[in-house]
Amino acid sequence: MRLFVTLVGVLAAIWVIPFLLPVESGLKFGVPYRVFFSLIAVFGGFWFYLLRMPSMAPVKSTRKAVASIALVFVLSTGTIVLFANLAPQFAFEGKSASGATAGERGKALFNDASAGCFLCHVVAGSGGARGPDLSHVGAVAGNRRPGMSAEDYLKESLMNPVAFVVPPFDNIMPPFSRLSPEAINDLLAYLRELK
Ligand code: HEC
Repeated sequence: MRLFVTLVGVLAAIWVIPFLLPVESGLKFGVPYRVFFSLIAVFGGFWFYLLRMPSMAPVKSTRKAVASIALVFVLSTGTIVLFANLAPQFAFEGKSASGATAGERGKALFNDASAGCFLCHVVAGSGGARGPDLSHVGAVAGNRRPGMSAEDYLKESLMNPVAFVVPPFDNIMPPFSRLSPEAINDLLAYLRELK
């Protein structure tokens, strides 16, 4: 009973405290976070509940032991896969950027969370620093690899970034071959314009 009351208290805290946080704190806990923490609390409560149960008799039949291991595996892996499908971490497709010229659409895409280029690249002073500053990549691209045109180099940088890793960076850039051909064209047009 005490366990149950504690659990209800923890759940209430998870769902009520976010409303009490002052907006200025900048802290936001959306519903997915609250559901996540609630599940952890429920599983934690379940764990303490199990601890109080009388100990179980060891399983004697091998078949039953294997079956229960398989069941646990299917349930846990299945839950993770299901969750990953319901809430994918990366959504590349599905957005078509608006803009009159290819370069404008490419710029919008570059700064959109669906492509996420700005997370790792600085252009004109803003963006992340995990990758090279791309403010002048249109001019640099032609000299990166001997015998390779700027156009080909930029395309390769997107489709197969490991082909040439700009020192001193690591090859952490994901390939963007999943983007539509139109999106790739728009991005390339934008990158070419960065002189
Ligand atoms: C996870 C971080 C990350 C993301 C996201 C990312 N990049 Fe990169 N990018 C890098 C890193 C690190 C390098 C340098 C290493 C290499 O060349 O692979 C790089 C290299 C490049 C280069 C070559 C730059 C040069 O100076 O030769 C281009 C062009 C480029 N990225 C464009 C993009 C575009 C466009 C996007 C979005 C579609 C993007 N990147 C998304 C990390 C990232």
